[in-house]
Amino acid sequence: MDNNAIIQAEANNIVQTYIRPKPVFTHGKGVYLYDSDGNEYLDFVAGIAVMALGHSDPEWIAAVNAQAGQLTHVSNLYYTAPQVELAQKLVATSFADKVYFCNSGAEANESAIKFARKYARVVHGRDDKTNIVAFSGSFHGRTMGALAVTLRDKYQKAFEPLMPGVVRAEYNDLASAENAIDDQTCAVIVEPIQGEGGVRPASAEFLHHLRQLCDQHGALLIFDEVQCGLGRTGTLWAYEQYNILPDMLTAAKPLAGGLPIGATLATDAVADVMQPGDHASTFAGGPLVCSAAQIVLNRVAKPAFLAQVRDNSAYMMAQLRQRLTGDDVVEIRGCGFLIGVEFAHPVNDLITAALAHGLIVVNAGPNVLRLVPPLIVSREQIDTAIGILVSCHTTDT
Ligand SMILES: Cc1ncc(COP(=O)(O)O)c(C=O)c1O
Repeated sequence: MDNNAIIQAEANNIVQTYIRPKPVFTHGKGVYLYDSDGNEYLDFVAGIAVMALGHSDPEWIAAVNAQAGQLTHVSNLYYTAPQVELAQKLVATSFADKVYFCNSGAEANESAIKFARKYARVVHGRDDKTNIVAFSGSFHGRTMGALAVTLRDKYQKAFEPLMPGVVRAEYNDLASAENAIDDQTCAVIVEPIQGEGGVRPASAEFLHHLRQLCDQHGALLIFDEVQCGLGRTGTLWAYEQYNILPDMLTAAKPLAGGLPIGATLATDAVADVMQPGDHASTFAGGPLVCSAAQIVLNRVAKPAFLAQVRDNSAYMMAQLRQRLTGDDVVEIRGCGFLIGVEFAHPVNDLITAALAHGLIVVNAGPNVLRLVPPLIVSREQIDTAIGILVSCHTTDT
C-alpha cells in the first residue's frame, strides 16, 4: 500500500481515536526512525517513553527471536522460567517483595486498586475503607478503574458513571492532601513525576507528607512509575530520589522494550492478601515479553547505564536552558530524560515544524513540549535535536 492508501484505509477501518501526522514509519535503528519515503527522524518520543534502548536493539532482537522460536505463550495456568526470572530481577532491584504481571500501564493501576481494596478488607476488616485519593493533573490510564483516578474532565466526562470512591486532592498541595486522606482511604495513587499532566515533579515534601498521612490512616501509598520509572529519571525508580518507599508501584511502558507489559510491584504485606482466583490475565507475563523485558531491565539497571542517563540528561537540560530562550518560554523542567518545556502558547505548530525538520516530539498538555528520547541518546543527537527545536522556535515566533 502507498502512503495515501494507508491513510485512507486507516480512516475507513480504524476507530478514530487518534490524530496522526503524515509519515508512515517503516523501521527504526537506535534513536532514529525512518518513513516510507526514506526520510530519517530523530525520535525524541520513543513510542511515548517506551523505547529505552532505542529501536532494533541487537541484544533485544536476539532474545525475542530465540524465545519466539522456543515458547511464546502457555497462559498463567503453568510455570515458565522467563516470568519467574523477571520477577526475581524486579524484586531484587526495588522495594518490592512480589510482582503481579499484566499487559499495560492502565492494567497495572487496575491491579493496584484491586489489591488496595482487598487489603483494607482483609487487614483492617473494613468494608467501608474503599476510597482512593488521586490528584489533579494525574494520568493513570483509560480503562474504567484507571480512568476514575485520572482526574481530568476531558478524559472522564463522556464515560460517566465512573468507579465510585475516588477522592480528589491537588497535586503538590499538602493541605489538600491532608483534607482528602482519612480513615476511609484505602490507598493514595500518585505519579512522583506527572508525565501527561505536563511533566511536573512532585516536591519531596509533598511525597513525604503523603507517606506520613498514609501511615497515619492505614492507607497504602501507590507510586505510578509507568512513565517515570525504569531509568528515565536517571535512577532505576524515580522514588529512589525521594528517599520514600511506596507500598505498591506500577510499571509498564519501557519494561519489555516495545512489547506490551505491565507490572504491579508490592510488599509482602499487600501481596499476601491476594489469593488464587482474585485476579488474572490470559496474556500477562508470557515467556516472550518476559524474555524481552529481562534484556531491558538488565541493561537499564546497570549503574554505568544510569550514570550515563544522568550525565547526558543534565547536559540536555543545560543546553535547552541555554539555547531555547525567548519571552514565550515559561519553564524548562523535569528529571533525567523526562523533560518538559512549557510555552506561553500551544505547542502544536512547533511539533509540526520539528517533524518537518526531522525531529519527533510530543506535547504533554496544550502548552508543554515533552522530550522523552531513548535513554541511549548521545550528546551529538541531543545537540542536533535542540538545534532543530531552536530554529523551528525562532522561525515560529
Ligand atoms: C503515569 C502513567 N500511568 C499510566 C499510563 C497508562 O499506560 P498505558 O497506556 O500502557 O495503559 C500512562 C500512559 O501514558 C502513564 O503515563
